[in-house]
Amino acid sequence: MLNKLDKAMIIKMISVSIIMLLVSYSAIFLLVKQVVEQESQKNMIQKARALTVQIEHVRHYISGMVADKVFDPGLLKEAQKYIERKNAKSKEEIIKIAKLTRFYSTIPIVSSWTIGQGRSPDSLHKFRVVRIGARNKKHEAIPKEREMLEHMVENDLDEYWIVDNEINSLRYMKAVIMKKECLVCHGTVADYPEGKGYDPLGIKMEGWKEGEQRGAFEVISDLKPLQETVRKVQYDMIGIGVLMVLMLVFSVPLWFKMLQRGDS
Ligand code: HEC
Repeated sequence: MLNKLDKAMIIKMISVSIIMLLVSYSAIFLLVKQVVEQESQKNMIQKARALTVQIEHVRHYISGMVADKVFDPGLLKEAQKYIERKNAKSKEEIIKIAKLTRFYSTIPIVSSWTIGQGRSPDSLHKFRVVRIGARNKKHEAIPKEREMLEHMVENDLDEYWIVDNEINSLRYMKAVIMKKECLVCHGTVADYPEGKGYDPLGIKMEGWKEGEQRGAFEVISDLKPLQETVRKVQYDMIGIGVLMVLMLVFSVPLWFKMLQRGDS
């Protein structure tokens, strides 16, 4: 027969085992949570990066087509005439009218962001082009985006991302850099002298230079699916943890029996 001392000893051993199990299991639990979270976020960033890289390729490709005169140069004249006929004067009016012309879709940056928006039709991912002092109000950076853009310029970053807790999303940005071919519209008078400070469509030129970062392509990804994955893993792990403790507790009578047998 087991004496009282043995019983107390076994109970102590079991308690210590349960505590050790709980501590090590909690550590694994936290580690797994962190790893799943990090990996899912990395995956999200990679997807956003892949999308913006593709969008940049579209821009290069269309720029090449413009340079090779694939598009009829008469399209610009047609657009200019249409803008004049509609008597569009302000930036907003010109953009609105220009959008209806064939020339508009041959502007490389316009075709690239149009494709970007088309590639993110679900509500979980949004594609945006943003800038401080945008031509189009729709593209104007909100304060958080402004901070990101400023951070990118200050630190000379080509890409940058943050978690925006307000909208529970990941904001990923890829810098939009002024190229030579952009300057005819966004550059200085010297880049388009006949416009006298206005671009071929009649919008005031910004006076920017080649190589400057002027805005970004942005992918906004909802973090909810990631959080749901983490939560599911957590629930599964809690389930396994409870099962382990229960098994340990229910094995107590078995231990007593085994020890009793060894005693007799
Ligand atoms: C033919 C003139 C023209 C050229 C060339 C041009 N853009 Fe623009 N850009 C515009 C117009 C017009 C808009 C506003 C269009 C709209 O909102 O639909 C615009 C808008 C933008 C925007 C969005 C922010 C905003 O101001 O609304 C970015 C970013 C941009 N351009 C970058 C570039 C880059 C980079 C290049 C060169 C690769 C370039 N653009 C070449 C005319 C041009």
